[in-house]
Amino acid sequence: MSYTVSQLLTQDITFQPIEIKGWVRGFRSNRFIALNDGSTINNIQCVVDFENTDEAILKRITTGAAVHIKGELVESQGKGQKVEIQVTSIEILGDSDPEEYPIQPKKHTFEFLRENAHLRTRTNTFSAVMRLRSSLSFAVHKYFNENGFYYMHTPIITGSDAEGAGETFRVSTLDAKNPPLDDDGNVDYKKDFFGKESNLTVSGQLEAETFAMSLGKVYTFGPTFRAENSNTTRHLSEFWMIEPEVAFMDLAGNMDLAEDFMKSVLGYILEHNSEDLEFLENRLLTEEKSKPQAQRSEMSLIEKIKFVVDNNFKRVSYTEAIDILKNSKPNKKKKFNYIIEEWGADLQSEHERFLVEKHFKCPVILFDYPANIKAFYMRLNEDGKTVRAMDILFPGIGEMVGGSQREERLEVLKEKMKALDISEEELWWYLDLRKYGTAVHSGFGLGFERLVMFATGMGNIRDVIPYPRTPQNAEF
Ligand code: 4AD
Ligand code: MG
Repeated sequence: MSYTVSQLLTQDITFQPIEIKGWVRGFRSNRFIALNDGSTINNIQCVVDFENTDEAILKRITTGAAVHIKGELVESQGKGQKVEIQVTSIEILGDSDPEEYPIQPKKHTFEFLRENAHLRTRTNTFSAVMRLRSSLSFAVHKYFNENGFYYMHTPIITGSDAEGAGETFRVSTLDAKNPPLDDDGNVDYKKDFFGKESNLTVSGQLEAETFAMSLGKVYTFGPTFRAENSNTTRHLSEFWMIEPEVAFMDLAGNMDLAEDFMKSVLGYILEHNSEDLEFLENRLLTEEKSKPQAQRSEMSLIEKIKFVVDNNFKRVSYTEAIDILKNSKPNKKKKFNYIIEEWGADLQSEHERFLVEKHFKCPVILFDYPANIKAFYMRLNEDGKTVRAMDILFPGIGEMVGGSQREERLEVLKEKMKALDISEEELWWYLDLRKYGTAVHSGFGLGFERLVMFATGMGNIRDVIPYPRTPQNAEF
């Protein structure tokens, strides 16, 4: 019978002989194959009877080769594993030139592995990260499914820029060299594929709102695209966003939902992915040892995740946060690149990190931001200058979630759009929601890769998505 490595290592296998297919991770003493098939971080040891195996075959058992092994599962003679396979036959399915194979059994830099992203999931670190990513995706759907949400697929190609930041990728089939022009000499998008200007979505929120206002509780989980020229360890041009949207829910309910949701999905991986988490935790501990004491983390990876699951997020208004920042040491000593002088300042990531990492030392929900630094759709507070926005900030990550209670009053929304020069004609359908049975509603967006970064302890967002898209880079 055929098994996976995971099955062989964790289940009581009674049927013998067994068969397995996988890739050689290492071969030593012409005898011991470390075999991996992706089903677990662990390899299974396969012991080759080298005296009775063709020399030509032994030569072809190289790192990276795909093999089909038949044999007996036996209690291991050696240390380090409970069981091993006594190989009775081995077939080389695909050779791998040991001189050329990029993934040698040694430590590679993440930069090198990014250039070989098509092979990097053959390493322990990247296979662990991708299994965790998969597990977290499942936990996302599980959470919403168990809590009465419907999964909605919002369009990837849209005519709108939900965030109004102008950071969209155009979708067009016009001839870039010779586009049709209108009477004013501008590109005539009426002649384009969709008969109007269109772009890749930056967020599924606006469409999700339409479904919340009929199905009640919905969420989207799909790719989003931003043409912002940010070359940081936390920005991608293509990333996955989770966006729940709920009718009759206010900002306080939104905070409760976001906190409960994050605790649930992180709790899921603690329960189901302990081996991968332990591997990544040890990887980080080794990395930390090379750092000076003062820069080392006080908690291990699993402790950090548990801390989030077990403790309440701190809820702080923007106004309180500004007070804290104004009076903070780095502000007074002018250590921030952007000195906080007065209420109304936009928070930079250095400020967010100070709040979560130095001041509160836990996840923080900041709410009630100044209206003019947030998107048009957020509900205006009675004070007339703040909106019902919330950002959730995480240690080591910064902004993980951005959300708000939505402006449900037609006139207030129209006024806001006018002030920001957002076309009512374009968003006629969005305004209709405020005409026909409008109601309080709220939602948020969580950047999935930032969650995976937190859950895996990886320091660069390019290392938690299979094929990162960033400025000047769309390889693979
Ligand atoms: O704060 P943002 O821009 O909010 C929205 O798009 C809202 N429409 C969401 C909603 O209310 N439904 O983005 C939400 C989250 C951020 O908090 C961040 O985690 C992530 O998306 N994000 C990015 N992740 C990776 N790369 C980028 N360039 C990102 N931009 C935002
Ligand atoms: Mg945001």
